[in-house]
Amino acid sequence: MKSNQIKGFSVNPHLKNNRLTVVTLSSSTINGFCKKVAKQSVQSIEYKPFLRFHVANCLNQETNNTLGDFLLNTIKDRQTGAVLLQCESLDSETLNNIDFIDFNILLSTAISHLIGVPNLDSMSGKFYARFSVKNEDNSDSYLRQAHRRMELHTDGTYVKEHTDWVIMQKMLEIDVEGGESLLLHVDDWQELDKFYSDDQAKAEIQWGSPPSKNVGYKTYHPVFIKEEKQGEPRMSFIDQFAEPLNTDQGLYLYEMGESLEAETNTFGVELCEGSMLIINNYCWLHGRDKFIARKNLHRELLRQRGAFSENARFEQKSV
Ligand SMILES: [Fe+2]
Repeated sequence: MKSNQIKGFSVNPHLKNNRLTVVTLSSSTINGFCKKVAKQSVQSIEYKPFLRFHVANCLNQETNNTLGDFLLNTIKDRQTGAVLLQCESLDSETLNNIDFIDFNILLSTAISHLIGVPNLDSMSGKFYARFSVKNEDNSDSYLRQAHRRMELHTDGTYVKEHTDWVIMQKMLEIDVEGGESLLLHVDDWQELDKFYSDDQAKAEIQWGSPPSKNVGYKTYHPVFIKEEKQGEPRMSFIDQFAEPLNTDQGLYLYEMGESLEAETNTFGVELCEGSMLIINNYCWLHGRDKFIARKNLHRELLRQRGAFSENARFEQKSV
């Protein structure tokens, strides 16, 4: 889709990496969307799945039905596959006095339903999960731990559903320094060929998760899952939840983690409140840089993970 065929939003390459497309919704698009969804509550969209598609349609209509196609084409295109979506303005007049947190939930719901269907998030029991990052934490994974870097990974390694895309949205931020989102496209990983050509690349690995994830089973798939039509590699990898069962697997995964963390093509993206990253989960790895410790550090995030419509029917994935 050419930029002269879009309406109600602008498109620019990100300054740090032109694979990442910056989409800015215009104030009139946001205002029109907010007026259309003013009577929808967050609870109602949690209870009724079809309402989420209505909310998505309300946003798409404000762009002459161009936003959905643009996002889907961009996320499915391996060369790009990632969008930073932001809003031109977020004052209460533009938001038609909708509560800011509610607006964020409605907006990311609209976006997720323009590109597919979100999976049930077992951590929250909903189609989205909200979580806080604070100065102190005693959880059982690195997700909420501010003082350390969260290593590059893809999502959904340990669930049965397809996880074609991930949405990471920032709703609130207080007293934060650092903690940028980290991104690396699989094709920009300089040691990709070394690991992709290894005997272990297609070996089935066992994946599990800690109790907080509420997933009571294991999954089995290689790090490099089924390729795209043209044979380009796609990855499903996270260091914390791989459960190697022999030395060859363990050393392969260890060296992969070391290589990814040393990769100089990884870049950081700052998200402002009300913006979100939308990434193709199988060709982009993501992580988070550590934060500078501050007493009142507080960040409210929302995530959705899901499948393109054609992969959304619930059944065990074959990878
Ligand atoms: Fe993640």
